[in-house]
Amino acid sequence: MTKCSPPSPPADGITARRLISIDDLSDVEIGYILDLAEHYAGFLKRSEPAPQCLAGRTQINLFFEDSTRTNLSFDLAGRKLGADVVNVPVSASSVHKGESLIDTAQTLAAMGADVMIVRAKEQGLHERLDQLLDCVVINGGAGALEHPTQALLDAVTIRSKFKTLRALTIAICGDVQHSRVAGSDARLFTRLGANVRFVGPAGLMPESNQFTDIERCTTLKDGLAGADIVMGLRMQFERMQSGDKDATQGYFETFGLTHETMKRAKPGAFVMHPGPMNRGVEIDGALADDPARSLILQQVFYGVATRMAVLDALLGAA
Ligand code: CP
Repeated sequence: MTKCSPPSPPADGITARRLISIDDLSDVEIGYILDLAEHYAGFLKRSEPAPQCLAGRTQINLFFEDSTRTNLSFDLAGRKLGADVVNVPVSASSVHKGESLIDTAQTLAAMGADVMIVRAKEQGLHERLDQLLDCVVINGGAGALEHPTQALLDAVTIRSKFKTLRALTIAICGDVQHSRVAGSDARLFTRLGANVRFVGPAGLMPESNQFTDIERCTTLKDGLAGADIVMGLRMQFERMQSGDKDATQGYFETFGLTHETMKRAKPGAFVMHPGPMNRGVEIDGALADDPARSLILQQVFYGVATRMAVLDALLGAA
């Protein structure tokens, strides 16, 4: 494997000072971050130390909702670039003495944070923190709204197989309504030129006035037809009202992703899933574990490289 030069930054530099939504990034910035992620993936594949471009910078990971992939890959990403990384143990923090999320974040920022990665379900919290804190705020997952770094790593993973997302058909399948990944993926993939579809029960689709440019299919037969990529989504039971749960009855029999149902997609189509997955609920374990059809562990691998790229790009500019 040969070493490559890093991609050239945009001519005007990186102007984004936060990453709360994919829409905080220009098309040029997105292209640069995807290229930079591929560059960092090369270091990881070669087991080679990456440039210590964040030495002396402080990164705080503040996750008010549970996480395995996002929290730990941001942790690894920051350390690989030389940052001092702090993971806040929220379950043992003063939040449980009644301290507000904003007071907690301001307290941590006062310890000298250069960047704070925040996961929380409270709507508008990330925007408020961006206004209040003198550091870069990165969204590590915002309720059912946005998960921009997941979308970026998904795009990097797809590019590793198809070079480009342009003209690909990508079916995002499952509990679309409650999925922050579905929203960020749809926004990003559309900007990158893909044809995106939402597939799932009508009761788990977004409101009709949202994502009006995205095709909706309520059968797997229509939704997977001609798809290059099928992105399975977890049933987000914790975000559902009791009425929504009716739409999940018999879900696996109707919408479960299996080797058999993948025959409706293009030959050679890949299945993806942001995780955590529930085997036997939205996806069959045999399909998830099939390296010829599943990119799920590649998504995890590219998660580290993509978050290295995001930290480098945003902190390099800050
Ligand atoms: N995909 C994702 O956000 O996973 P975690 O909840 O484990 O971070």
